[in-house]
Amino acid sequence: MDLFRKKEINLNHTSGMKKDLKTSDLIMLGIGAIIGTGIFVVTGVAANQNAGPALSLSFVLAAIVVILSGLSFAEFASRVPVIGGPYAYLYVVFGEFAAWLTGWLLIGEFLLAVSSVASGWSGYVQGFLEGFGVHLPQALTSGYNPDNGTYVDLIAVFVVIFVTYIVSLEAKKALRLNNIMVFVKFGIIALFIVVGIFFVKPENWQPFTPFGFSGVLDGASLVFFAFLGFDSVAMAAEEVKEPQKDVPRGIIGSILIATALYIVVTLILTGIVPFTELGVSDPVAFAMRYVGHGTIGAVIAVGAILTLLTVTISMMYSLARLLFAVSKDGLLPKFMTEIDEKHRTPRKATFVAGVAALFFAGFFPLNILAELTNIMALTYLMLVSLGLLKLRKMFGKPKAGEFKVPFVPILPIISIGTCLVLMLRLQPVTWIVFGIVTAIGLVIYFGYGYQHSKMNQQN
Ligand code: ALA
Repeated sequence: MDLFRKKEINLNHTSGMKKDLKTSDLIMLGIGAIIGTGIFVVTGVAANQNAGPALSLSFVLAAIVVILSGLSFAEFASRVPVIGGPYAYLYVVFGEFAAWLTGWLLIGEFLLAVSSVASGWSGYVQGFLEGFGVHLPQALTSGYNPDNGTYVDLIAVFVVIFVTYIVSLEAKKALRLNNIMVFVKFGIIALFIVVGIFFVKPENWQPFTPFGFSGVLDGASLVFFAFLGFDSVAMAAEEVKEPQKDVPRGIIGSILIATALYIVVTLILTGIVPFTELGVSDPVAFAMRYVGHGTIGAVIAVGAILTLLTVTISMMYSLARLLFAVSKDGLLPKFMTEIDEKHRTPRKATFVAGVAALFFAGFFPLNILAELTNIMALTYLMLVSLGLLKLRKMFGKPKAGEFKVPFVPILPIISIGTCLVLMLRLQPVTWIVFGIVTAIGLVIYFGYGYQHSKMNQQN
């Protein structure tokens, strides 16, 4: 058994997909995937229970972790610009076993992110409908919890079906819808900033760290979720015109834009509303109602409802392409490699992604989904930084025109350490489920993947 069999980089092969995405498309894709439930939903609870007014500091810490990993990610994306993102990168440097593990974690991350955002979206929509006196039967309002009388989150299920359909049609079409929504997203954030800034009371920032530094760290481990989605940029590599240049720019660009917006929004948010009152599920809209601007609050709520959809679209887009890439290597069943003739998209892989996401979104609660998303992402990001050290050993420094991480090996090592710090702040239950998910991944690899891998034909 050879768990370290490696893939050669072949940049000349074609997947059959259209190659028409540019840097601007990728930044839009990144922002579409990044800014969502994290800022519109999770900030409320994170300020209220973890960080207090120092939530912006939590965002700074999480951003540092993301940017450090994003650098290694960007160099890989520039030098190994093939579909599959980190999964493909690790195949080249560490071989098949590490690649599978990363692919499995990444599938888990995207799947859980699609499901958690769909679930958060459902909460917003239900709140909105209730404003008009429309109530769903209790059984259909949330995931499986017979004690509360809830069995399935119907709206989350519907949104997953809708998004799967859109993404299966055509990448460009899905992204066009995504681009419109990104502007809506910028619009409501700008509205919040421009109106909110006049209602900031500096005394609300006192005490700045009511839960101490450990609270700030706990907040960072939670709001890390708000940055996920930058990895979806790399997943589009085979549909990009000049991936060496465009993909790193798309990754770093979208992270930096999100970071700037998050810091400003959380400073204003905690400046308007005392953190003790922020434990709500729609904090950004709530803050506007809090200062007597109910209409603006409603506009923001509608905008959030529309834009959370884009996060689901971008994540689903990436998930389908990842399943396509992993199946292409034989580690998952072959039918997911088919490219639909008419739309030239991996349609069957998209449907598989949709069915799996539907299950999680329908039956699991948001908090479990979000923490799990984080632990999966942090683990594979550590593997990517480790992989970068190996990449440099194997292939030396990047060539001119390729993206280069500065201060190697110091930065990747710091990056691994920071990911670990955030992981250690997550709850024991998250670790347990994470262990189970990883074990299932190992069973699939040793029970199916190893035998069916394309690598077998080459040996
Ligand atoms: N970063 C994405 C969000 O916050 C997952 O919704």
